[in-house]
Amino acid sequence: MPIVHIHDSDLSFEQRGEHDTILRAGLAAGLGLSYECNSGGCGSCKFELIEGEVEELWPEAPGLSARDIKKGRKLACQCRARSDLVIAMRTDDSFRPAILPGRFLASLESRRELTPDITEFRFRGPAPARFLPGQYAMLRLEGTGAPRAYSMSNLANAEGVWEFWIRRKPRGQVTESLFATLQPGARVVLDGPYGLAFLQTEAPRDVLCIAGGSGISPVLSIARGLLSDPAMAERKLHFFFGGRTPADICGLAELQALPGFAERASFHAAISEPREGDGWDGAVGFIHEILAKVLGGTLRDFECYLAGPPPMVQATTRMLLLEQGVPAEQVHFDRFF
Ligand SMILES: Cc1cc2nc3c(=O)[nH]c(=O)nc-3n(C[C@H](O)[C@H](O)[C@H](O)COP(=O)(O)OP(=O)(O)OC[C@H]3O[C@@H](n4cnc5c(N)ncnc54)[C@H](O)[C@@H]3O)c2cc1C
Ligand code: FES
Repeated sequence: MPIVHIHDSDLSFEQRGEHDTILRAGLAAGLGLSYECNSGGCGSCKFELIEGEVEELWPEAPGLSARDIKKGRKLACQCRARSDLVIAMRTDDSFRPAILPGRFLASLESRRELTPDITEFRFRGPAPARFLPGQYAMLRLEGTGAPRAYSMSNLANAEGVWEFWIRRKPRGQVTESLFATLQPGARVVLDGPYGLAFLQTEAPRDVLCIAGGSGISPVLSIARGLLSDPAMAERKLHFFFGGRTPADICGLAELQALPGFAERASFHAAISEPREGDGWDGAVGFIHEILAKVLGGTLRDFECYLAGPPPMVQATTRMLLLEQGVPAEQVHFDRFF
């Protein structure tokens, strides 16, 4: 097994297993390697190869700019070691996994359609499901190449249940196959947990969850974690969810079923593409605009959790950080590349 050494440090780890990338092997060894998406999109896991040979799994990954490629930089989430390596890469304790990720086979227990394009998939693994509210796992479906990241919508549990709310992407390699072929009993490989946008149980502020589309999955887990934790009983929750049309809006029934929802929480939905006769009499606009209208001026008082497509996360973080002055350490997000 190749050994990876981090340049100018005493850190090293072994790359185990056929499917491991350098990033996932390092995190599984408990190292704080810089990352966010695990999917080739964000560029947080860039490294420079000083010694050794790597296999690049997705050389065109958008996380590398033309300048990065010219300078010989690579993505740790898209490379495998082919020999012992020395790499220069950012490390920090903030990236160190609170729960070590692991890979295992899981079988589909059930699927439930939530909207015309979002379905809940519930898998059961062989051991208790250990993760923090807001984290994600990599799901590999046989015959579909690279794994994809999906955020858990449930909470850690002794029964080994991993629940995901997944949006079908037209012509998407993995989701088209998941939606078309995966039936109860089918097996997938899960690898996790990953992700840094998890519920901060020590933070003393009320909580704001902001989701676009399938971004609802991790923030539903955060809402579930908050409302079921007696240590956070004093904190309130404001949940903002944006879709394109009324048919995209989901999650209210699951939130209303949580203990204390009526007393401690509020749900705001908005759609961005209203149509004549669609029956929608709620808010219209992008969800960050609705949020600014409803809570603008008070946003500094919240711990904020966001998830969704990169443009939605970018518009919302810009509003929170630049227009509303929310300190960066109170804003936690996952961009769904
Ligand atoms: C942290 C995170 C959490 C996410 N959580 C959710 C969630 O809870 N629910 C949900 O519906 N979606 C989620 N996504 C999006 C999800 O991972 C997929 O991008 C989406 O389902 C579309 O996948 P697809 O294969 O159908 O589409 P495709 O268009 O085939 O692939 C889309 C993505 O797969 C990756 N990819 C494409 N080609 C390659 C390649 N050759 N090698 C490696 N990677 C490649 C890229 O990241 C690309 O953006 C999340 C993404 C991230 C990063
Ligand atoms: S973590 Fe590798 S590109 Fe995002």
